[in-house]
Amino acid sequence: MSNLADVVDRLLEVPIAPSFTRIGHDIRRRLDHWGESTPASLDGRVMVVTGATSGLGAATATRLAVAGATVVLVGRDAARTGRAAADVAAHSGRSVVAPVIADLSELDAVRAAAAELRDRFGRLDVVVHNAGALLADRRSTSTGDEATVASQVLGPFLLTSLLLPVLSVGPRPGRVLTMSSGGMYSTGLHVTDLQMTVDTYRGTEQYARAKRAQVTLNELWARRVDRSAVVFHAVHPGWADTPGVAEALPTFRTILRPLLRTPDQGADTMVWLAADDGDPLATSGGFWLDRRCRTIHRLGSTRRSDTPARRRQLWDLVVARTGADVPPDPAPATAP
Ligand SMILES: NC(=O)c1ccc[n+]([C@@H]2O[C@H](COP(=O)([O-])OP(=O)(O)OC[C@H]3O[C@@H](n4cnc5c(N)ncnc54)[C@H](OP(=O)(O)O)[C@@H]3O)[C@@H](O)[C@H]2O)c1
Repeated sequence: MSNLADVVDRLLEVPIAPSFTRIGHDIRRRLDHWGESTPASLDGRVMVVTGATSGLGAATATRLAVAGATVVLVGRDAARTGRAAADVAAHSGRSVVAPVIADLSELDAVRAAAAELRDRFGRLDVVVHNAGALLADRRSTSTGDEATVASQVLGPFLLTSLLLPVLSVGPRPGRVLTMSSGGMYSTGLHVTDLQMTVDTYRGTEQYARAKRAQVTLNELWARRVDRSAVVFHAVHPGWADTPGVAEALPTFRTILRPLLRTPDQGADTMVWLAADDGDPLATSGGFWLDRRCRTIHRLGSTRRSDTPARRRQLWDLVVARTGADVPPDPAPATAP
């Protein structure tokens, strides 16, 4: 990686807009000389992708299938997920195995999905936690949890805990990869008010709190699990033109549309983390944009909110809400 690439990369990071749009992606791709984002062959590797019915998840699943991975789609609607699996097969020229049906905001469904994945595949190489949405109105799950937190924090946390045994038996470390968002830069670490109430609910703030929790838990998992067994990474995809953005942020999309990344560009770093056996396996707990590890704080206020005590509270809260069986903490958590 050249000095010029380092300097330009840092300059791009200062203002958000060029960094998050296709401008940041295109410049970094040229400066860092990315080759094809998928290696010659992922034959024999089994990779689970959630939220693959559209947008970034569909792009990720297709790219991984093109490279030869056995891709397992997890989706909440059987018809939509079946169609997505057929699309991935058609675009990749590879057959795709039967999908697993689960609403990730429902913990019983997550437990059933984990059991099915463990039974069908004795070994998993990668789990991509990509499913997510920004919900304008507050919704509750059957356990009374707020739906954004349930689908993007509680469900994925439980799924990770249940899949750890099959992620750690391969010839190389397993990978747990989470699609977070630059939206989390705007908010601090919330625990007691992680789930907003009917009175306080604002979709963008609830989404940011869930995404902040994701990157924090990503770091906490990495502390607990030896990276020779499983590595953990979170991804910031930039701003990509997907059905999710069109539905949740129509004005933002209209204004920025010429600059938004394609789903393939937004999925690039996720695909690289899933497929490359170099940097992605050399570290754990990173937060990545355009194939480089990034800070999880841009503001002093969010950094101050991120205390070791609050991190412990977050972990304990998520364990309590999910009933997950988790490995012990080797040492008290510290803020970055
Ligand atoms: N696009 C961006 O610029 C951007 C930026 C930052 C972060 N992200 C993140 O990237 C991820 C993908 O978003 P996208 O933009 O590609 O949006 P998208 O096209 O709307 O895709 C979202 C996917 O998540 C699935 N999903 C949502 N809730 C679910 C649940 N409870 N259980 C199972 N599946 C569920 C959807 O399935 P259904 O078909 O059933 O609805 C769909 O497959 C999300 O985590 C999002 O927060 C996107």
